Amino acid sequence: MKNIAVLGLGFVGLPLSLTYAMHGEKVYGIDINSKYVENLKKYKTHIIEKYKGETIEEILEDTIKKGLFVPTNSVKEGLKNADKIIVTVGIPITNGTLQKEIFNAAIKSVGKNLKKGDLVLIRSTVPPGTTREVVLPILEKESKLKCSKDFYLAYSSERIAEGKAFEEFQTMPVAVAGIDKKSTNKAYKLLKIINKENIIVATEPEVVEIAKLIENSSRDVNIALSNELASLTEKMDIDTVEVINVANTHKRVHLLKPGIGVGGHCIPYSSLYIFDKTDKMKLPMEILHTAREVNQQRPRNILNCLESALKKIGKEVEHSKFAILGMAMKDNSPDISESPAMRLKELILQSGGEVNWFDPNVTGNFPLKRNSIQETVKDADVIILGIKQDNIEIEPNKWKNLTKKNAIIFDARRLVDKEKAKKSGFIYMRI
Ligand SMILES: NC(=O)c1ccc[n+]([C@@H]2O[C@H](COP(=O)([O-])OP(=O)(O)OC[C@H]3O[C@@H](n4cnc5c(N)ncnc54)[C@H](O)[C@@H]3O)[C@@H](O)[C@H]2O)c1
Repeated sequence: MKNIAVLGLGFVGLPLSLTYAMHGEKVYGIDINSKYVENLKKYKTHIIEKYKGETIEEILEDTIKKGLFVPTNSVKEGLKNADKIIVTVGIPITNGTLQKEIFNAAIKSVGKNLKKGDLVLIRSTVPPGTTREVVLPILEKESKLKCSKDFYLAYSSERIAEGKAFEEFQTMPVAVAGIDKKSTNKAYKLLKIINKENIIVATEPEVVEIAKLIENSSRDVNIALSNELASLTEKMDIDTVEVINVANTHKRVHLLKPGIGVGGHCIPYSSLYIFDKTDKMKLPMEILHTAREVNQQRPRNILNCLESALKKIGKEVEHSKFAILGMAMKDNSPDISESPAMRLKELILQSGGEVNWFDPNVTGNFPLKRNSIQETVKDADVIILGIKQDNIEIEPNKWKNLTKKNAIIFDARRLVDKEKAKKSGFIYMRI
C-alpha cells in the first residue's frame, strides 16, 4: 500500500492532492467539512485554479473518475489506505488570536489513525518549533508509537500563490527537513514525485518553519516601506511608481509595489506566528511590528487622502457615494480574507459614506455587493480601483455619464490612463 492521504482540502490541499493524482498517485483527500466533500464528489469547488487549459473542476472530475482522487470526510478511511500523510490544515487567526486547536485537532486525528511505517509531512504554515514541540508529542501520545522508530515526521513549507497552484507545486523550489534522516529522505521522495528538480534539504524542521515565516514577513516589511514611501511622494506630488522603478534599477534593490494594504492570510499571519514564539521569549521584533502597523493603517491613510480630495471640491466622506471595483484581498483572487478593500469599505461606512462594490471573482451574497459595474458606479462621487481583477472592464469613458460630475477615480493599480480619465471628466488620483 503506497497511497497518499492529504488532510485539509482548501486552497493548498485540493490542488496539491490533484497534482499528485495527475502524476498517477492514488490520493485520499480528507476534509472535516462534509458538505464540501459532497460537493467535491460532484466535481464542485469554490477554488479557482487552472492547469494547461483545464479548470480545477475538470481535473477533479477526471481524477475522481479514474479512481485516483477519493474525497472523504473520514480520517479513518483515508489513513487506512495511505502510508504518506500530508497535513495542510492551517492555524486561522481570529481577532489576533491563533486558533491552534483547529490544527491540533487535525494532528490528533492523524495520531489516532497512525500506523507503523507512516510518514507525516506538515505543509501548513506554523509558529516556529511546531513540528517538534507540538506535532511530534501529539502524534506519539495518540498513536502510542515512537517517532523516528515507528513513524516518520517532516516539515515542508508551502509557497504557492493561489491561481498558480498546479504550476507552482511542480516548479517552485520547496524546502524540507525531517525530525531525523529517514524522515527527511521519505519526505524528499514524496515531494520529488511532483517537484522534479527544486527540493532544498535543510538540517532541521525549525529552519524550514522559520524560513517560510520570514519569506512572508520580509514582503510585509518591503511593502510597508513602499507604502511609507508613497506617503512622502504623494505629499510632494511625485510619481511613487516612477521613484520605485528608478530605485529598482540598482542591481541590489528590489522594492515591491505600494497599495491599499496587505491582505490574505499568508503575509499578515506570518508575523503573528512569529510573535507567538517571540512574545514568550520577550523579544520585541520591532521591525515586524512596525511593518504590520504601517500596512494595517494603509486603508485609513487612503481614506484620509480621499477625504482631502473630496474637501477640495466641497464634498465630504459623509454623504458621498463610493464605488469599489475589486474587493478581493489581492489581484485576480476570489479571496476576501483580511482584504484591505473590505477594511476601506468599513472605514467609509463608519465615516458616514455610502458604498457599493463589484467583484465578479468574489462569490456569495453581501449586502452592498452589486451585480454590474454600471449599478456600482451609478451616482458615485468616488471610484476606487484598489486591486486588479482581469474580468472587471476598466472603461472610464463608459462610466462618465453614470457617476456624479467631477467624480474622483482613485487608482491604486495604474489601471486607468491618467489623460483618458481626465478627458472623461474625472479627477484622477493614483498611488
Ligand atoms: N492559500 C495559500 O495560497 C497558501 C499558500 C502557502 C501556504 N498556505 C498555508 O497552507 C495552509 C492551508 O491553507 P489553505 O489556504 O489551504 O486553507 P483553507 O482554509 O483553504 O483550507 C483548510 C481546509 O482544512 C479543512 N480542515 C479544518 N480542520 C480539519 C480537520 N481536522 N481535518 C480535515 N480537514 C480539516 C477545512 O475544512 C478547509 O477545507 C495554511 O497553513 C496556510 O497558511 C496557504
